[in-house]
Amino acid sequence: MESGDGRPTDHIVEMEGISKRFGEVVALEDVTLRLRRNEVLALAGDNGAGKSTLIKCLAGALRPDSGTIRIDGEVVTIESPRDAKRRGIETTFQDLAVAGNLTVAQNIFLGREQVTGPDSILGILDKGSMRERARELLEDLEIDVDVDAKVSNLSGGERQLVAISRTLLSEPKIVIMDEPTSALSVEGADRVLDLIGRMQDQGISIILISHNLDYVRRAADRIQVLYHGQDAGVIEDSDVDREEIVSRMIAGLPEDERVEEDGRSEEDESGDAVSA
Ligand SMILES: Nc1ncnc2c1ncn2[C@@H]1O[C@H](COP(=O)(O)OP(=O)(O)OP(=O)(O)O)[C@@H](O)[C@H]1O
Ligand SMILES: [Mg+2]
Repeated sequence: MESGDGRPTDHIVEMEGISKRFGEVVALEDVTLRLRRNEVLALAGDNGAGKSTLIKCLAGALRPDSGTIRIDGEVVTIESPRDAKRRGIETTFQDLAVAGNLTVAQNIFLGREQVTGPDSILGILDKGSMRERARELLEDLEIDVDVDAKVSNLSGGERQLVAISRTLLSEPKIVIMDEPTSALSVEGADRVLDLIGRMQDQGISIILISHNLDYVRRAADRIQVLYHGQDAGVIEDSDVDREEIVSRMIAGLPEDERVEEDGRSEEDESGDAVSA
């Protein structure tokens, strides 16, 4: 695979130098995130580190103030959530949006209802085929939830599975999940992690945000860490000790990875530690 400028790239997503402020709050400052094809990349960081803000920039829900986003090596401006979807990017956001009063099948098709007849405006909702497609989708994903069940009657874990399967309807290349296992029982989280594994088997590239480091280590290939809106580096092997992840989460980049503004690392300096 080659990038638009002829550079070979094994990254399906490259976000570089991303900055975003909300008034006085600097949510992201010069952050880089690279997602390899078909990997599960975890995005870790403490509360307020900027994780949701970063993925919203990729999902089209926010526009970064500066920085570059490449998809398949090509520089893009993601205008809106709809634009992101058109580019094969689907997202489940942290504040989970499923409609309790609708059935599982209706939730899966919410906002993209299929109609029959020659005129898509006057056409009638094709409930039968939507229900059938939803049933097939859940069966493919080995999700044992009744398509006719009201979502308000499902457990938190089952709702999460419905929310994730919704993102797979359009056969996306990239799926972003913001805290899909928070507030779930151990069993519920297990089912979500298994589903993430099956999505990876289907060739999808995945960004997973989670505070649960055991889940992160289990599901992810690599871990990108954010610290107070800044890049705290990438852990290439998710099988590391928890302490390695936690220390980046609470202290940022290790000293030997820090680079000064002029491009020299601190080791190049006179030897004195640089105080914050
Ligand atoms: N719409 C907004 N308006 C103002 N400030 C915001 C907005 N969204 C996020 N922020 C601020 O930006 C910073 C990063 O927030 P963000 O939600 O990205 O963090 P997070 O890493 O997802 O945290 P959490 O783990 O708690 O979900 C925080 O200081 C937050 O208060
Ligand atoms: Mg968040």
